[in-house]
Amino acid sequence: MPSLRLHHQLLRHCRLSFIPTSLSSSSSSSSSSSLITRSRPLGSTASAVRLMGTMATESTPRLLFRQLFEKESCTYTYLLADVGHPEKPALLLDPVDKTADRDLALIRDLGLKLIYAMNTHVHADHVTGTGLIKTKMPGVKSVISKASQAKADHVVEHGDKIHFGNLFLEVRATPGHTLGCVTYVTGEGPDQPHPRMAFTGDALLIRGCGRTDFQGGSSHQLYQSVHSQIFALPKDTLIYPAHDYKGFTVSTVGEEMILNPRLTKDEETFTSIMKNLNLAYPKMIDVAVPANLACGFQDSTPEARASA
Ligand SMILES: [Fe+2]
Repeated sequence: MPSLRLHHQLLRHCRLSFIPTSLSSSSSSSSSSSLITRSRPLGSTASAVRLMGTMATESTPRLLFRQLFEKESCTYTYLLADVGHPEKPALLLDPVDKTADRDLALIRDLGLKLIYAMNTHVHADHVTGTGLIKTKMPGVKSVISKASQAKADHVVEHGDKIHFGNLFLEVRATPGHTLGCVTYVTGEGPDQPHPRMAFTGDALLIRGCGRTDFQGGSSHQLYQSVHSQIFALPKDTLIYPAHDYKGFTVSTVGEEMILNPRLTKDEETFTSIMKNLNLAYPKMIDVAVPANLACGFQDSTPEARASA
């Protein structure tokens, strides 16, 4: 069996991988396949919200990971699942409406149980597939940040943990591209993937970053977010962005700390670069943003919106 490092090298080329997340005999004693935990509700004790209680498991987590692409908006959708868990619970990150059927077919083919359809932020360049997925696969719950002010079954905040099987994603607030942007980072611990993986949305792109001139964007905030929340991760953390326009698929924290042409600069220079990008008004923004604030239900009934 190839080493973990080789797995990730293969993954960079093939956009798919099966990653055993633990080589030790220790196993988690998580008692459900999905859960969102809040580490600091109003600053005090931890609380947990059970979303789908089922059987107790002593399984060793194994991450199934797929990087999927939507060519019109150059969006990456990520599929993650714990295939070491009997239920094979899965989540989709940043699904696109146009490729929702492809994603659901893959999930069915692989025998996974989709529990969450999640977004890193309210996208301006495409309509999220979340609403469509929820209608086609009842039981799936939508997830987005509270700060995004979008409708979803679960709104998450900085520090929350989103569990799927015995794996989890940590929520890091990374505003600046939009006010509600978050980065989802795979958990830390012996049973979690190594290196860690950061799904950065548009906060950090490979050799770039999202624009900061609309949707509550702020160059100052984006600079602070990337440096304090993403560049603070271990240097071998894999960066998986929401988009790429040049064919790149993955980077690392260490690579971007040295090679990102914008975020390696001081904040003043960064702000000046962002101010002078002179980007066109996004083609899809007037359709996508209102739709995505309602989970992708652009022309739905009030009843459908209410269930988004
Ligand atoms: Fe965006």
